[in-house]
Amino acid sequence: MKVLLTGGSGQVGQEILKSKPRAIEIISPRRDTLDLSDQSACKKIVEDHKPDWIINCGAYTQVDEAEKNIPLSQKINSYAPAAFVEASNETNTNLLQISTDFVFDGNQNFPYKENQERNPLSQYGSSKALGEELIEKKINDIEKVTILRTSWVISPIGKNFVLTMLKLHSEKEIIKVVSDQIGCPTSAGELAKVCWKIIELKKKKKLPFILHWSDAGVASWFDIAVAVGELAKELGINKKEAFVLPINTSEYPTPAQRPKYSLLNTQNASNLLDINPIHWRKNLRNILIEYKNLEKLKDI
Ligand SMILES: NC(=O)c1ccc[n+]([C@@H]2O[C@H](COP(=O)([O-])OP(=O)(O)OC[C@H]3O[C@@H](n4cnc5c(N)ncnc54)[C@H](OP(=O)(O)O)[C@@H]3O)[C@@H](O)[C@H]2O)c1
Repeated sequence: MKVLLTGGSGQVGQEILKSKPRAIEIISPRRDTLDLSDQSACKKIVEDHKPDWIINCGAYTQVDEAEKNIPLSQKINSYAPAAFVEASNETNTNLLQISTDFVFDGNQNFPYKENQERNPLSQYGSSKALGEELIEKKINDIEKVTILRTSWVISPIGKNFVLTMLKLHSEKEIIKVVSDQIGCPTSAGELAKVCWKIIELKKKKKLPFILHWSDAGVASWFDIAVAVGELAKELGINKKEAFVLPINTSEYPTPAQRPKYSLLNTQNASNLLDINPIHWRKNLRNILIEYKNLEKLKDI
């Protein structure tokens, strides 16, 4: 089986590459070989390689930057997936599209189900929502697509909240962190396992067009910042932890508006894929252990 992976240098892409089943041939072009903002290049690579699957992890993920880069974020997050679908209709390719909790507005206080209406607040959310809509509109056979929405992705590499907090804990006495945005982190490694399980199961059974996945539990950014401080000290990554002060979103204005509540209901995916999500704090601990090991390797 041949898989075309985009975003292979990103948090999720790296984990997908690491956990690739042996029998699968993977093509993972970097940005200089496949620019996702170029629709004709997206079509051509599918026509040339005729993969059995595309895992589209590549995305314009800078949420605040997207507010002022509307055309570019749309090209990458909306029109690249559309181009993949158009080409896939001809090559009989399946698509696994990674999407986001930011397609929702966050105006509820119970976990979002897959069939709930999209109402994004930010340009990033809108561009990802448009990507979902274009896939749905253009696909010939809906069973060839799975949209996997996830939230607050964290890993030992790349740019993410955990790595930012690690640094701040080591440098500052007090860190102010938003406590009124509620959701759940997702370990990129666990998400990668879910991606491979979807591909394996799709051979045997039908899966819904949209699935939700995150770690188990619920958290605010404040909760995660506290946990990073405690665990980093316990694991000997940082000598000290800063005091984390909870603040409201209004005290930390950002260019992009974020949902107040974006917990995803993962029950469907958990049942269908027969995987129980692990609690975020346990996954966070494992991510920090991996981070520590990677740092040790840098010293050798
Ligand atoms: N991060 C989150 O908190 C989060 C939350 C919910 C959903 N998601 C979704 O999960 C997926 C994976 O996210 P992630 O956290 O792994 O993202 P990430 O670490 O920011 O990686 C993004 C990837 O996209 C690639 N990319 C960006 N623009 C490109 C372009 N024009 N041409 C080719 N490649 C390009 C990047 O390549 P370079 O290395 O060259 O920049 C990188 O490999 C995305 O679909 C994202 O929307 C993420």
